[in-house]
Amino acid sequence: MSVRTAGPAGGGRRHLLSVGDLGAEGIREILRLADSFAEVNTRAIPKVPALRGRTVASLFFEDSTRTRLSFETAAKRLSAEVVTFSAGSSSLSKGESLRDTAQTVAAMGVDCTVVRHRSAGAAVQLSRWLDGAVINAGDGCHEHPTQALLDCYTIGSRLGSVEGRRVAIVGDVAHSRVARSLVSALQLLDARVTLVAPATLLPPAVEAWGTQVSSRIDEVLPRADVVYLLRLQRERQERALLPSLREFHERFGLSSERARRLADHAIVMHPGPMNRGVEIGAEVPEMACTTISEQVANGVSVRMAVLFWLLGAEPGAISPPAAVAFPVRGSSPAAEVGRG
Ligand code: CP
Repeated sequence: MSVRTAGPAGGGRRHLLSVGDLGAEGIREILRLADSFAEVNTRAIPKVPALRGRTVASLFFEDSTRTRLSFETAAKRLSAEVVTFSAGSSSLSKGESLRDTAQTVAAMGVDCTVVRHRSAGAAVQLSRWLDGAVINAGDGCHEHPTQALLDCYTIGSRLGSVEGRRVAIVGDVAHSRVARSLVSALQLLDARVTLVAPATLLPPAVEAWGTQVSSRIDEVLPRADVVYLLRLQRERQERALLPSLREFHERFGLSSERARRLADHAIVMHPGPMNRGVEIGAEVPEMACTTISEQVANGVSVRMAVLFWLLGAEPGAISPPAAVAFPVRGSSPAAEVGRG
């Protein structure tokens, strides 16, 4: 099947497959755009006509709560049409392949496909098969670039900057696409990263990541500006890598007692979904130092920025004020609806 879709207009940009695609300048540009869209999201009617006439397909072959709803909300707030696909109720059960499924959806006139898949490399593969833009919304243990972008945005908004910050990433690094993308983004933005995990949950050749590595959480925490907790990904572990969840929590979990020993300005982050009582103490998500709900809220602004960056402007045309030169707070809702 050969399919031509409308394709992206975002300054010749094609896809967002990995953080490395962006480089430091690309990340900073998206974070600046996200600032403008965060303002849009505070309005009574948080909607602008930036992608009117565009269609975004949400293709999730693996379960998701945050990423899927966040992308769909972002696309709707930019006035794009949204086509959604659920693996569980699709013709995959009749044997249809990933390629045929994606090309079938694309043939409905899709400009951008947001894809999540359990296999590393699935988004790259789709980008070769489809003419429109492809955004990687998580591929196996490989990458989750928009999660890293929203995390950097959250660090910047809470602490003023990412540069020079000491970030401890704690837990199941080996199976975490979030960790891979986040380490790349933090290093591009000149943060200082320490991975904290038992040896069985570190990736092979971790030296090549260019981070500090520690197995002693209590030595790392007092110096951290950011403690980033990773979910223990039991669904991706092929063999028992831990003696028990209780022992993992005792040695590597952020209990409320450990959280109280953090620096006053330090923040605690988690990409969700959380395993309360495992990597994070049951009461820690409600402590003032945690940013978990902020990360979710910021995710919408950041994904609006990514969609706009790929689909919304011609080369050189992007600047945050121009990007959101739409109805301002205080203008009449009717006018906003009319323009949106
Ligand atoms: N953080 C994240 O990717 O969550 P979901 O699996 O719910 O999308």
